[in-house]
Amino acid sequence: MKELELVKHATKAQKNSQSKYSNFAVGCSILCEDGTIIYGCNIESAVYPSTLCAERVAIYSALSQGHTKFKAIAIVSDNFAKPCGSCRQIIYEYLGDIPIYISSTEGKEFTTHYIKDLLPYPFG
Ligand code: THU
Repeated sequence: MKELELVKHATKAQKNSQSKYSNFAVGCSILCEDGTIIYGCNIESAVYPSTLCAERVAIYSALSQGHTKFKAIAIVSDNFAKPCGSCRQIIYEYLGDIPIYISSTEGKEFTTHYIKDLLPYPFG
């Protein structure tokens, strides 16, 4: 699968974002080793700390469906936002050294990152 195709999937997931408190919609797609695409979007709660980021929704969903090996992850927001600290930790622990494509809502271009650069000196 081409990188931009995975980004397009993240753009689709972004449309499902439940983000009425921040108005900041994030979408995520993960390409599993067997070719399955898993989606995630941020889901916010009136109890703010119960909010979950798009990346962790997607990663937890993938793991809970039995996927443990991954090829790439794409994250889409309106301003090329990088994953928060908690998501970087979970990416480090469960996805390993795969390309992380970051894009905008238009999904036309993306940058590629690796967790070793986003989370140096990780715990674990
Ligand atoms: N958010 C994500 O979904 N992923 C990130 O990596 C950063 C932040 C969400 C959480 C919240 O719903 C909104 O963006 C504003 O922080």
